[in-house]
Formats: sequence, C-alpha cells, structure tokens
Amino acid sequence: MCRVSGYIGKKDALPIIMDGLRRQSYGGYDSAGVLIGDGFNLACVKAVGKLENLEKKLENQPLKGNWGLGQIRWATHGAVTEINAHPHQDCKRNIFLVHNGIIENYRDLKEQLIKEGHTFSSGTDTEVLAHLIEKYFQGNLLEEAVRRALKDVRGTYGLLVVAGNDPEKIVAARLSSPLLIGINNGEYILASDPTAIAPYARRIINLDDYEIATVSQDDLRVIKEKIPVFLEFTAEETEKGECPHFMLKEIMAQPETIENAIRGRLLFEEGAVKLGGLDSVSAQLKKINRLILIACGTANYAARIGKYMLEEYAGISAEVDVASEFRYRKPMVDEKTAVIFISQSGETADTLAALKEMKKKGVLTIGITNVVGSSMARETGSGVYIRSGPEIAVASTKAFLGQLTTLAMLTVYLGRQRNMSLVTGGRIISELSNLPEFARQVLKSAPQIEKLAKKYSEFKNFWFIGRKYNFPIALEGALKLKEISYLHAEGAAGGELKHGPLALIDENFPTIALCPSDSVYEKMISNIQEIKARGGPVLAIATEGNKEIKEIADDVIFIPKTLEMLTPMLSVIPLQLFAYYMAALLGCDIDKPRNLAKSCTVE
Ligand code: M6R
Repeated sequence: MCRVSGYIGKKDALPIIMDGLRRQSYGGYDSAGVLIGDGFNLACVKAVGKLENLEKKLENQPLKGNWGLGQIRWATHGAVTEINAHPHQDCKRNIFLVHNGIIENYRDLKEQLIKEGHTFSSGTDTEVLAHLIEKYFQGNLLEEAVRRALKDVRGTYGLLVVAGNDPEKIVAARLSSPLLIGINNGEYILASDPTAIAPYARRIINLDDYEIATVSQDDLRVIKEKIPVFLEFTAEETEKGECPHFMLKEIMAQPETIENAIRGRLLFEEGAVKLGGLDSVSAQLKKINRLILIACGTANYAARIGKYMLEEYAGISAEVDVASEFRYRKPMVDEKTAVIFISQSGETADTLAALKEMKKKGVLTIGITNVVGSSMARETGSGVYIRSGPEIAVASTKAFLGQLTTLAMLTVYLGRQRNMSLVTGGRIISELSNLPEFARQVLKSAPQIEKLAKKYSEFKNFWFIGRKYNFPIALEGALKLKEISYLHAEGAAGGELKHGPLALIDENFPTIALCPSDSVYEKMISNIQEIKARGGPVLAIATEGNKEIKEIADDVIFIPKTLEMLTPMLSVIPLQLFAYYMAALLGCDIDKPRNLAKSCTVE
C-alpha cells in the first residue's frame, strides 16, 4: 500500500527519507520515488520495482539537500510505470507532491483542469492535486494553495507537498489516510507509519482529518493545536534481528504478545478485568443487550471467536460481519446495541467507513486495535489496545493472538457486569495468565511442523476444518496458507463437509483437522473418519494426552489442554508455523506476499 516519507532539518535528507520508505515497505509496493530540495532547486528520481532499483539510480544521480519527500506506490489508478510513480508535479515542475489515498473525483477535476490549459503527464488520480494546487498558488503561500485545492477534492489523502518558489517548507495534509510528524530538536520527520519515525524522534503529532501542517526548519504549524504523545515501541522492535522473516519473529513473539495484552489488566481476587479504555463507557455498556463485531480478514476471524466467547460467557447476543459488507447493508441498530470494531492497523478503510456509518447513527462504538493513535483509536474514543507491538509481516499472526486475548478479557469485563460469577471470571483470567507458557510449549513443536510441511508440500490443495471455537481457526489456517504460499486452501465447519466439500476429498486432497478435546471433539472425530473413509490424508491438531487420535489421523500436532474458549489461541500457532514453513519451502516472499498490502487503506 502507498506510504509517504518526508524530512526537513539540518541533516542530509535523502538517507532519512529512504530509510523511512524502507521501514514502511513491509506493506507491499511496486515503485518508489524521492525528491530533495536544496534552496530553490528541487531534484526528483523515481524507479519501478524495489527500493534497490531507486537506490541504484541514486548512485549515479546523488541528491543533496536537507529537505524533501518520498513515496512508495501500490498502484490503484494507472499502470506500474516510472511516470506514474510519485512524486507528481504541476505543469511548471514547481510543485511536487506525494500522496497516500485515492482522489475519487479525479476524472471531473482532470477534465476541468485540461480545459483550463493544464497538461498531464501521468495516468494517476494523484496528479490532479499538483495541478489544482498550481491553479490556486498565485504568489501566495503554498499552505494556502493546498488548503484551497483540497476543498475541491473528494477522496482520501495523506499528502506531502513542496514548491520550488516557496522553498524549505513541507505542507502536510490528511483525510482518512494516516500521517504523522516526528519532532526532534529543530528537525521534523513525516511518515504514514510510526515505524519510519521511531529511529529519529520519540515525540509525534498524529494529524487529524482535515488538518494541514506546515513544517519548516524551525517551525511547525498545524491549523488545530495538537499535543504530542510518546511512541510506545522502540526502533529495535521494527527490525527482524536474527530471524529470517518478520513473520517467524512475530509468531515466536506470541507468548509475550499475550503477556503484554494482559499486563495489569487481570484482577485475580475479584475474578474481573480492568480495561481503562472502557471506563468512560462502562455505564453505557451495562445497558447493552446486543453486540455487533466488525472487522476484515484475520481480525474478522478473531471477531467470530469473540462472538462464541461473548455469547457463551457474557450472555450477550453477538453477531459478526465483514466491514465491506456491513457498510453497505442497512443494519438494524438501537440504543441497546454496541458495535465493536477490530483492526490491527486501525487504518483499514472498510472498517473505518463502517465505523463512521455507525457514528452517524449515534451507536456506541468500541475499538480494538494495535496502533496507538490510529484513525480507529481516535474515531472510537473508547476501546482497548491489544499492545502487540509493531506487526510488520503482511500475514497477521501476533496481532490475532492479541485480539483474541483482548476479546477474552472483554468477555470477562462484560460478563462480570452481568451474570458471570466471580468463580467463572476467576477461572478464565487464571487460565489466560497460563497461556503464555502454553504458547511457549506449542512453539517448541516448530521443528516437527517444519518436517510435516516438507511431507505435505507435495500437495496443492488443502482443507482446514474445525467446529465451534475452532471453526474460525480453520478459516484462519486456510487464509494463512493461501496468502503466503499461494496454495489453494479452504476452511470449513466440520459439520458442513457432508453438504458439499466431501466431494473433493481423495488421496491428493489433505485436511488439517482441529480437534482439541472439547465439547465438539466426538463430532470432529466423526468428520475425520468420513475423510479417512474416502482416502483423504489428515493432519490433526489435538490435545496432549489424546491417544485415540494417533490411530485415526495420519499425523498429529499436540497442544496443551486449556479452557475450550481459549483453545484457538493455541491451536492457531501450529497453523501459522505450517503456513510459514510451506511458504519457505516454496521460496515465496513470506513477509510481502504478492498482490497484498499490510493495511488496506483504500476500499
Ligand atoms: O489492520 P487490520 O486488522 O484491519 O487488517 C485486516 C486485514 O486486512 C488483515 O487481517 C489481512 O487479512 C491479513 N493479511 C491477514 O493475514
């Protein structure tokens, strides 16, 4: 997905901007460009493909100066070409800008600007912004022209603009696409993602929608006063370290992910949890009798598990929808409904759009997100941070565990407001506190799972099945495998096999079956038997101590025994590792799978 980077200060700007782009590149991109200013001179270099291509061009064409901007592009409007790469410019090559977002009314604007005599060089939506700013930039200040131009625009933007005839200044503007400014003793680092700022500044300003900031060497002006908050993670947390891939590092970090999520939140003596971000809406939550959980992708599978938890233990009716569907249907909501939005990034466009719809209806909205100060955190006003730290790999792993941990705590929080007893609340939180250790035990199976991946790598198609709490884990296991290994994988509820999927089963179509010793274990065993009777290979995820399963399945990975509602937090780990090792064997680009973006900030 597109990301922008900018710098103004006393240092050489290029290495800082390039580092900013590199640190944000985990989301996927297809071209890149930078522009550096030196007095009135602006020089720009772009390249298609990886940042290394841009770096090679910069070796022959070094750019010097202490202010500038850059962008990595993930094509939406216009092919992947150097001309379409950012920065884009106006007719006079005076105004340059980089953009993350989509200008929805660009066709009308372009037609009008062409009539007015502007000449376009790219096929992008973004270029209209440069010409619009040119139109309004008539001897006045650049920020004034930007402000005026944005009034004509419909769409989303995280935007950085510079002008040769109003030099040594960057104008930044935001609407529904993230944009941050790091502040460090007379220098400013601008980026879409805090990971690009972490090595250079500890204080940041998170621009709000419709805010425009003007940044020069010794000055930062934002139209609305903002209070800097401190970044919650260190630069080291955004590095791979010894691990070959971020995904493996993030899978292996999951015991700590759970520890971080529960730290200071479990009240053992009261059998309750403390979630400070819900204090302001606690009274309102007591009156709620229906919850709707909205999210996309992996976060949506976490929501589905949350539904089971909330209905079984908190006694509240809960439903789940994908954000891209929810935003376009006409959901029935009332004052007794609360809508919970779940997003790792807090920037997913579909989820944010659904959130805005619900806010318009005046419904209580709660956010569960990882990124502090993200759009979701700011739009919801109340919610819970999952505290998973930066998740860099496109395939979400540790954030999923953070989301499940948070949903389990939310279940106790809401349950204890209702009929959940101290004993039940106590049992859940005490088991939650055991989970980091259990997760460490599961991670010890990594070498066994690597061997199994070798065995199963001869197959091209996979079923994942599970029931009740582990049905969404079947969906998540299939998603992990397909998104990073490009193999065909489907997830299904065990009970659905006989309604169609069974037709596919033969000796070439293996099934990964989630069958921990829980309330639906016997049913799962029947499903496995149905598959075995048709010659399908089965790899089972089962509870330690289960002797029977070895006789039925071809292969077994064991997980420790825990409460049924918490088993997904352990059963998902072998599936993440399985997908990882399969993708590694197939030589795939694990951290940046093709066609995907970490955070989908466009619809
Ligand atoms: O940042 P979000 O949690 O809102 O992202 C939602 C999905 O885009 C994300 O979970 C996606 O499905 C991942 N690639 C899954 O690994």
